[in-house]
Amino acid sequence: MTKGMTDSRPFVLAPWRSQLARALHRNRSKPESRYFQLATVTTEGRPANSTVVFRGFAEASNQIQMVTDGRSDKLGQLQANPWAEACWYFTQTREQFRLTGHLSVITADHPEVQAQDDRRLAWQKLSDGARQQFHWPQPKAKRQEDGEPFAVADLDPVQPLDNFCLVRLDPLAVDHLDLRGDPQNRTRYVYQGPGQEQGQGDGGWDAIAVNP
Ligand SMILES: Cc1cc2nc3c(=O)[nH]c(=O)nc-3n(C[C@H](O)[C@H](O)[C@H](O)COP(=O)(O)O)c2cc1C
Repeated sequence: MTKGMTDSRPFVLAPWRSQLARALHRNRSKPESRYFQLATVTTEGRPANSTVVFRGFAEASNQIQMVTDGRSDKLGQLQANPWAEACWYFTQTREQFRLTGHLSVITADHPEVQAQDDRRLAWQKLSDGARQQFHWPQPKAKRQEDGEPFAVADLDPVQPLDNFCLVRLDPLAVDHLDLRGDPQNRTRYVYQGPGQEQGQGDGGWDAIAVNP
């Protein structure tokens, strides 16, 4: 599977989307249901893991959106190696989704107009407090005793700061584990790509019930 193939495929709602939408709805009273863990690969080939906030799906796509600071380690990681896995556990319904795929990033210098519109919209949807974090001094730099660099700035709520990035995960495989059954239920969704016979009716996705 090449990255180009995923970019050109026509949009069909993937079969795991209804399961994930149901989990999001049923767990909506739990604030942690809006966070998941995102595993990336460092340039040394080691795992790196971050908690991130789910920022919805990209328009007419199965891509999961997040925002991050262009100065974070994960940005360089995903630019060097786009493979990532999100692990999302819903405590109310006791379901885990693991979504494996490619990350892409929309930085301030991304050439596409639509991409910049999407990035701007993501900035506008942030709370004032969340926007301020992008104005904080260099992440991971030694902290100064003087708290002044963290002083609240007068930020434009319309136009993002240059280090504000919109990140998208394009899943190629999804593993859904539902702990509620006895035995538990596990379903593997695998993207087969357009033009293949299997899974044509489901936008190129196969869904297979497997042992937990
Ligand atoms: C509840 C929670 C939500 C977070 N949400 C985000 C987020 O949406 N985007 C982000 O870049 N970092 C978020 N973080 C911080 C990351 O987990 C991580 O510490 C930070 O991005 C630095 O990562 P780095 O090692 O890639 O530089 C969140 C942390 C927590 C605890």
